[in-house]
Amino acid sequence: MHKLPTNVSGGTDGPAAAVSPTFIPVAAPDLSGHEETYVVQAIRSSWISSTGPFVQRFESEFAKLCGTRASLGVCNGTVALHLALLGLDVRPGDEVLVPSLTYIATANAVRYVGAEPVFVDVDPTTWCIDPKLLEASITPRTKGIIAVHLYGHPADMDAINHLAAVHGLWVVEDAAESHRARYKGRTVGGLSQVATFSFYGNKILTSGEGGALTVNDRQLELRLRTLRGQGVDPLRRYYFPVTGYNFRLTNIACALLCAQMERCDAILSRRNAIFARYDALLQGIPGIGLQPVAEWAERAPWLYSITVDEKAYGRSRDELMALLEQNKVETRPFFIALHRLPPFREESRRRAENLPVTDILSAAGLNLPTYSALTDNDQERIASVIRGGRR
Ligand SMILES: Cc1ncc(COP(=O)(O)O)c(C=O)c1O
Repeated sequence: MHKLPTNVSGGTDGPAAAVSPTFIPVAAPDLSGHEETYVVQAIRSSWISSTGPFVQRFESEFAKLCGTRASLGVCNGTVALHLALLGLDVRPGDEVLVPSLTYIATANAVRYVGAEPVFVDVDPTTWCIDPKLLEASITPRTKGIIAVHLYGHPADMDAINHLAAVHGLWVVEDAAESHRARYKGRTVGGLSQVATFSFYGNKILTSGEGGALTVNDRQLELRLRTLRGQGVDPLRRYYFPVTGYNFRLTNIACALLCAQMERCDAILSRRNAIFARYDALLQGIPGIGLQPVAEWAERAPWLYSITVDEKAYGRSRDELMALLEQNKVETRPFFIALHRLPPFREESRRRAENLPVTDILSAAGLNLPTYSALTDNDQERIASVIRGGRR
């Protein structure tokens, strides 16, 4: 994530740009609404910690956005996952099913509570955890499933929830990358026991660092609130019946988020237009694959994703990324499969996990620049490098 220098915020290529094209970052926040005003308001009010009107406003509006009874702000998306697992009473020795194609925070949070992530392959038609493969990974120690809505695409929640119900498991949605994605018309965040979000600077809605949980069950909500705030008894100051954490989000961060949510529709529609333009520009280039979208899915326009078939395209994904970089276009490779990373690979090998779809996508995928200020010219420039890069 890069902050967009103000002199290229419009990104329009003047005559000089033909000689020296401007740098196109992979992401940049859209802070063009009331962000500054609200942050200044928070500072002037002196409510800069985790109490204040923006905290309450954010939590109530975010719950509304996700169609849940409640939401809780926390300091980032990793902490949101950690808190969700603490709230669900996950313990040492428990197993949690997670996709291997995700950001490392999903599996790290499982380890924070002493449990073990068990990796499951993803579905080639959604790039999310494959419900058909879950059952084979369930053991007497399995307690739940983290369904990651990856790269903006919702996981197949009905199939996942059905299997979880049959086996008495809970489900957490990791919606860090998929703000307001829809599954069969329903917004993600309200499709399981508890969902988690990230508001890191490259996310659709952002507060720089920040996160949230959404929840419907009142008892679970109260438990999450207690654990988030050091475990304090709400009726008795300095009395702590349980070991808690300080996972709170500040009124300043919530001021940013309130401004972002005012323009949620506009931010999404701009990013959807960027997605539609990429779809049109990149259609039909041999060897370049577009993200599949299930007929029941309305994806969140996070970072536009493509895959490279090295044989058909004549270059590998890494070679295409290098070519784009030479042309001053920043990209991101897909996540390295978690079951191949040092903290997890021995356990994964011991369990003889075989995750071919994850391995293929991890080697073939990349994310292209996606942010409000990206111009049509920028997108044409990116597409022409990709089109022209075929050998
Ligand atoms: C799928 C997923 N889960 C969790 C996180 C963690 O969020 P954060 O960076 O806010 O801690 C991220 C990353 O940003 C993510 O992409």
